[in-house]
Amino acid sequence: KKVGVLISGTGTNLQALIDATTNPTRHIGAEIVLVISNKMDVEGLKRAERANIPTKVLRHTNYSTREEFDEAMHNELIKAGVDIVCLAGFMRILSGAFTRKWKGRLINIHPALLPLFKGTQAQKQAIEAGVRVTGCSVHFVEEDVDAGAIITQETVPIHVGETVPIHVGDTVEDLVERIKTAEHRAYPSALQLLATEQVKLGDNNKLIWKLK
Ligand code: GRF
Repeated sequence: KKVGVLISGTGTNLQALIDATTNPTRHIGAEIVLVISNKMDVEGLKRAERANIPTKVLRHTNYSTREEFDEAMHNELIKAGVDIVCLAGFMRILSGAFTRKWKGRLINIHPALLPLFKGTQAQKQAIEAGVRVTGCSVHFVEEDVDAGAIITQETVPIHVGETVPIHVGDTVEDLVERIKTAEHRAYPSALQLLATEQVKLGDNNKLIWKLK
């Protein structure tokens, strides 16, 4: 399957997808053929260039509506023959028209155990909620943000400060990093499940497993 990855930044998840799909001992069933960024000069674009993957920068500020921007992305993805779209730190909300066109072929990674802690700063939300375990989720994208059937999840512990008054617990940055290492395992696994057709999205928006 041909994969397009949408990014806005550092692209460590993109790197994990590049590493997994180019690893000859893993059979992901997917090849990244295009990386689109809505921001210029981000580290993720350099990662793609180093791996000889075509890149495209589409700046959302050059389009007057969300729909026009999404249409431009859609056209690039079609031109590259993309079958599956992976969002990897893509910081734009997608229009309903775009999510409908890619229904069942569009996945995202979120740094929390959905349906908890949707939206931005999910790691900070988890620390503030006082939960002892959080994690990451790879899910099909629906029009609602961070909704959609879950394909893979991985749990991550939150370290609490036990030595009062010195706080030795996780900072948000600590947790962001610990969750990222889990993301780098969960995202390639989810892509493999989808690309090898072991999972698909049912008409009722629930996951259908076809494990071999
Ligand atoms: C990840 O934490 C992901 O869950 C969220 O955005 C972050 C992207 O990080 N959607 P990176 O650019 O892949 O390093």
